[in-house]
Amino acid sequence: MKFEFQNPTHLVFGAGTLAHLGEAVRAYGKHALLVTGGGSVKRNGTFDRAISSLKAYGITFAECPGIEPNPKLSSVITGTGIARHEGCDMVVGLGGGSVMDAAKVIAASVCYQGDPWDMIMHGQENRRVPTQALPVITVPTLAATGSEMNGTAVITNEKTSVKSFVGAKCLYPKVALVDPELTLSVPPDQTAFGICDLITHVTESYFNGIDCTPIQDRFAEGVILTAMEWGPKALSNGLDIEARAQVQWASIVALNGWVQVGTATNYPVHMIEHVLSAHHDIAHGAGLAIVNPAWMRLAAKTRPDRFARFAQRIFGLPAPSGKEEQTAREGIDRLESFLRSTGCPTRLSEVNIGDTMLARYAQDSLHIIHDKDGRLPGRPPMSESDIIELLRSAL
Ligand code: NZQ
Ligand code: ZN
Repeated sequence: MKFEFQNPTHLVFGAGTLAHLGEAVRAYGKHALLVTGGGSVKRNGTFDRAISSLKAYGITFAECPGIEPNPKLSSVITGTGIARHEGCDMVVGLGGGSVMDAAKVIAASVCYQGDPWDMIMHGQENRRVPTQALPVITVPTLAATGSEMNGTAVITNEKTSVKSFVGAKCLYPKVALVDPELTLSVPPDQTAFGICDLITHVTESYFNGIDCTPIQDRFAEGVILTAMEWGPKALSNGLDIEARAQVQWASIVALNGWVQVGTATNYPVHMIEHVLSAHHDIAHGAGLAIVNPAWMRLAAKTRPDRFARFAQRIFGLPAPSGKEEQTAREGIDRLESFLRSTGCPTRLSEVNIGDTMLARYAQDSLHIIHDKDGRLPGRPPMSESDIIELLRSAL
């Protein structure tokens, strides 16, 4: 292993922390851009509580409402215009991953010369990664992406149907104010998609990272076991604050970098899912619940031992030597059953995706990222026909 690690985001976690928003913002600015989504924060009272905290500390704000799930480039451009016009000196993202991602890219776009799409990885030769951004404070209302405490954002160019990511130091939020009470109103389907998303964040590095990362393996297993224990509690009683808190903490740990440190991982399942949600606007976690088990079945053929160990450690399955392939298959079936038990779809047909565009999805994934042999990076690297085969197995 060889690595450097720094996550500069100041995390404040716990029920009631929303009341500290004004205090947190005051350290970074006086006139905030307040980015929100389609209205859930206004319906459930979170928005009013947020602005009363801002007002208590003398913070004024401009609004950028209406960020959609799978946030669009045009919304980022609109938000950037508002921030510039209003002279905002910092950005607050109050919402799910989509809102927080848009908030980050708006914050960077305000300081960026040219088209913000240039900062998003989409197969271009000369990507210009942002080096400066307004300070961002994230206030997540949904446990899923971990965006609140990482330096990544995912944006969709709706004109070209390309969804992809940007990762940069300047995108790390200054503060993540994480109040599990804000997630009590998340409906069961989004709760389940969030659980699937966080599990997939750690299975990606568990299966695609380098060999011999024993601490990282145990971190990942801890995240998965915690999500499988507390996720169903949050689903059966959405008002269970303890369950909401455990799921939210798991979602942060899953993608704040700590689990992935030193693994040099790739994210093939995410790359393929992003193409599906780019074309069909499905929820990210729902797409992952379909792609991840299918990917695991394909990858297990090349590394049955690794998948057998997953089955053993996560599901307590016996793993007799010589029967690794069978154990691996059973472990993947169990994970898929778990996802299905939470209400996630596990087949493309359940989200109305058929077989007419499989080649296009594969080509789009490879256009965004590929190795020197033109394959999607991961273990194993996948060619266009591998990706098509994977997707066909998930129909
Ligand atoms: O828009 P509103 O009205 O707020 O409603 C949202 C939205 O409809 C709703 N919601 C959020 N909090 C709620 C709530 N409803 C009731 N009560 C609450 N407290 O949930 C719906 C989905 O929201 P969204 O933000 O889209 O979900 P999520 O947090 O799963 O974010 C998904 C986006 O993040 C990207 C995904 O690709 C997708 O675009 N990702 C970002 C990552 C990152 N920045 O690190 C990594 C991930 O792998 C992922 O790719
Ligand atoms: Zn994800």
